[in-house]
Amino acid sequence: MSRSLVLAIESSCDETGIALIEDGRRIVSNVVASQVALHAPSGGIVPEVAARAHLRWIVPVLDEAWLDAGIDWPDVSAIAVTHGPGLAGSLLVGINFAKALSWVHDVPLVGVNHLEGHVYAAWLHDAATAATEDERGDPVFPLVALVVSGGHTFLVEMRDHLTYRLLGSTVDDAAGEAFDKVGRLFGLGYPGGPAIGRAAEGATARDRLFPRAWLGDSFDFSFSGLKTAARRIVTEARADAGLTDDPTAPLPEPIVAELAWGFQDAVVDVLATKTIRAARAGGARSIVLGGGVAANTVLRARITDAADELGIPLVVPRPSLCTDNGAMIGAAGARRFAAGERASLDLDARPSLPLAAR
Ligand code: KG4
Ligand code: ZN
Repeated sequence: MSRSLVLAIESSCDETGIALIEDGRRIVSNVVASQVALHAPSGGIVPEVAARAHLRWIVPVLDEAWLDAGIDWPDVSAIAVTHGPGLAGSLLVGINFAKALSWVHDVPLVGVNHLEGHVYAAWLHDAATAATEDERGDPVFPLVALVVSGGHTFLVEMRDHLTYRLLGSTVDDAAGEAFDKVGRLFGLGYPGGPAIGRAAEGATARDRLFPRAWLGDSFDFSFSGLKTAARRIVTEARADAGLTDDPTAPLPEPIVAELAWGFQDAVVDVLATKTIRAARAGGARSIVLGGGVAANTVLRARITDAADELGIPLVVPRPSLCTDNGAMIGAAGARRFAAGERASLDLDARPSLPLAAR
């Protein structure tokens, strides 16, 4: 008897991800080829380089996912592919690959919003964490979801599957973008998020305070002021360390650790406070966290504690399912497929595709 699998393809940014998802939630295979090493020397993603790398890796990634799953084409009921938001060239590689497979194997195609994928990662179950995931249970509605990635930062309310009301979003930089830019200012590698998280663990002094942009009672975020503050604080720290005359000399490690801690604390404070306030205001019965920055240990711990206090569960995927991957696109795609959605072969890339309106 054939199975009911969704083949999911993600190529919107700098990871080529392909997964096979069963019954909309169980990860059968999930392969990610990361381009981090490729973009590290330039300190950020170069779109042309990213698109070419997707082209190079997409077939080997499919081969590996296919082999891991041990299945055949009659087992695949749908092909889900990210069609936005993201880098146009990178999206086009995944979309055209998905269309070719759909046409050749006569399997229906579903277009998925990458941001919806980050939300639906919270419904995934996999063998790696099966026991704890089962204990954890699924998110319950109404819920508040915080999506924090390299390109987006927003809070949405969901009263049912696939419906979103935007509560607030960043008015300038995304949280991940702030981590990446400030990581560079601190002399840490790319991407800045994980590097700042690691550096902050070594902080012994916690005296340097970074500003928080609260923006009144709104659920909007702003992180560009933090960048300016970080530049000023780095200049002061360099002067204190007697490094003003040598711009190439790195800051001593304990100082970088202290700065990393202060910056991370400021970002986490605003994200956690607004998420909990939104959950309380809307009477949420659960909180969902997704996107690359949700891999941050301190953010996860802080929202877990606050949600505990509020008496509602926090559902956050394991870190490797918070950063970009195909499995999350499969979870969202399966839900859309079950709701009757189908894409035609003229599905196009939507680099600025939104998820929700206010
Ligand atoms: O969701 P994602 O993988 O890609 C986008 O859709 O953008 O998010 C990538 C972002 C990067 O900015 C990266 O620095 C950040 O997530 N990130 C982290 C951590 N791991 C990844 N930020 C803070 N702490 C982490 N542990
Ligand atoms: Zn993402």
